[in-house]
Amino acid sequence: MPNQSIRIKELRALVEKYRDAYYQQDQSLISDAEYDLLEQELKELEALEPLGAGRALTTKVGSGSGSVFDPVIHGQKMMSLDNVFDTEGFLAWAERVGPGPYLCEPKIDGLAVSLTYKNGVLIRAATRGDGEVGEDITQNAMTIQGVPHRLSGDNHPELVEVRGEVFFELEDFAKLNARIVSQGGKPFANPRNSASGSLRQKDPAVSATRPLKMLVHGFGVWSADVVSQSAVYQKLTNWGLPTTKRYQVIETPKLVLAYIAELEATRPTIEHEIDGVVIKVDDLATQESLGSTSRAPRWAIAYKYPPEQVNTKLLDIKVSIGRTGRATPFAVLAPVIVAGSQVEFATLHNQEQVKSKGVLIGDTVVLRKAGDVIPEILGPVVSLRDGSERAFVMPSNCPECQAKLEPASLGDIDLRCTNANSCPAQLRERIAYIGSRAALDIEALGYVSASALTNPVEPEVAPILSEADLFSLTMEKLLPIKAKVVDVDTGLAKKDAEGNDKVVDFFRKKNGEPSEVAIKLLANLEVAKTKPLWRLLVSLSIRHVGPVAARALADNFGSFKAIFEASQEQLAEVDGVGPTLAESITSWHLEDWHRQIITSWEAAGVQLSNPLHKQGSSKADGLFAGLSIVVTGSMETMTREAIESLIIENGGKASSSVSKNTAFLVAGPGAGSKLTKAESLEVLVITEAQFLDKLPA
Ligand code: IVH
Repeated sequence: MPNQSIRIKELRALVEKYRDAYYQQDQSLISDAEYDLLEQELKELEALEPLGAGRALTTKVGSGSGSVFDPVIHGQKMMSLDNVFDTEGFLAWAERVGPGPYLCEPKIDGLAVSLTYKNGVLIRAATRGDGEVGEDITQNAMTIQGVPHRLSGDNHPELVEVRGEVFFELEDFAKLNARIVSQGGKPFANPRNSASGSLRQKDPAVSATRPLKMLVHGFGVWSADVVSQSAVYQKLTNWGLPTTKRYQVIETPKLVLAYIAELEATRPTIEHEIDGVVIKVDDLATQESLGSTSRAPRWAIAYKYPPEQVNTKLLDIKVSIGRTGRATPFAVLAPVIVAGSQVEFATLHNQEQVKSKGVLIGDTVVLRKAGDVIPEILGPVVSLRDGSERAFVMPSNCPECQAKLEPASLGDIDLRCTNANSCPAQLRERIAYIGSRAALDIEALGYVSASALTNPVEPEVAPILSEADLFSLTMEKLLPIKAKVVDVDTGLAKKDAEGNDKVVDFFRKKNGEPSEVAIKLLANLEVAKTKPLWRLLVSLSIRHVGPVAARALADNFGSFKAIFEASQEQLAEVDGVGPTLAESITSWHLEDWHRQIITSWEAAGVQLSNPLHKQGSSKADGLFAGLSIVVTGSMETMTREAIESLIIENGGKASSSVSKNTAFLVAGPGAGSKLTKAESLEVLVITEAQFLDKLPA
């Protein structure tokens, strides 16, 4: 079939090109997922070809060794792994290898390295290369944190090759890119590229400045008195080598599947990238009898998770304005599917972060989305630049109201829109926040409602010009409103097929009668008037006053009147408040239009004082009664504060630091020292999704 051979040739050329870029230049020209597809297609076509048709590529491991480093011949070949992508594939493998126990562990997305110890002394470190011959990176590997130059204990084998994965933690990767960019260098596209690039520095002194880590997961040449993979890990640990704490020996394929699912759920909280689970037959004699193909052992398999990294174009960088006026740059991306959903935008947090990531408008970028978590740009693929890319310049005026953007205080990185009172973006965000679960939890006051009420298509019918107007909404005011459909992440109006703003009659049915949303909104607002005082306080969007502080203030003072009449000192004395917050509260109250909110709410019948004893009433019998819970990192479906308010609402204590008394840590991407501390204290760590699953329906 000529077409087939043409396709094979084409695929070989592509696979060769991408493999070369990946292994020799630390560049991911396409995403792993795209590469896997090409390789899979090539394998399938090659299998149909007559024998001897040159199947070299897909039976190859890694790539030929580069030229900068001396070649090293591995004592035993460094193999690759075969992949499965679903339950069926895994069960078929389990069937082939026979019953457990199986050793399961994360598949680390890093760089394979072999360490040779002679009589307990590290004498050589090498990359995988083509599996037979790698590169001598001994000097560089000596700089990896946690890799012992001499093994602990005694009676070491004369010669042992230990294999493992070298990688960057996500946090360290971001810091490294920031440093490289600030020194005028080229940033890495993702953590794996940065690990490879750092390990293959010509100057070991440079490697030494890169916080590489390593976890070992096997061995090459070794004759020792061990009978199982898990016993090997025990021995490696005793020798002071870094092994994963996440491995488990599991008896049945069914329980292995549970491990796979569990690890996937916590994937977003893991400090480094993983791309699946490696499952190994634990018994070494069985491993031996199963043997290997030319490429991979039969006794191990990689269960690959859906890809979390894709390449896409960074079309533009725009700026959105939050409820406290903060201007946040965000990436506008060529839409791609990653981790099961379409991504078009990714936050870039602030102008410093745009700089430190080293991305230019027009770049091909690597986008990461871990499970349900917020998409994040890791870095640019520098080698794909064509010179047309341009740097982002932070605007000096608000994109929605043109007021000046300024730091709230000298030295702040964040810029804020200075028009808190009437910037339409700030007002829309504050009103939406009032409706959110962190504040008054008003079902019919979502983002589109908030936008319709503050920025309708015809501005003259806008019924809300300030929070003051919220509780005096009437059906007459709602009916004439036509709403733009807006994107919750960016505040941008969504477009119809012709490119015009999408517009809906939000509060009125076709026959002119009130819509369900309109009826519900007014009813919800009526109920909201009697919500707990702390929720009303949170609704004011006073800087730093989240559910935890609001609760403390409400408990202590019992009414808005008492809170706003209190002196800064009195406020600061309250447990969980402190001077910054106290200052924020008193200066908020100095603004006329802020005080007007309180006056109007009171006139509309909002209950601005609660009997003191009512404040803590739900505590004793709540789901989290007596538990101290910490939230860290970024959350997907709601703010960290909203999670904290759910903790409080269910009787728990939302604490800001992890200790051995912490019941569990809810962690999202970007989690740093709190996560490390939780792990060292063996405190349970769960994701936002797992937390929300715990809540009563
Ligand atoms: S075991 C004989 N365990 O994945 C090969 N490999 O895609 C046994 N990898 O070449 C490999 N994490 O570099 C093993 N926990 C783990 C791993 C792991 C990452 C790498 C390894 C391997 C590649 C195959």
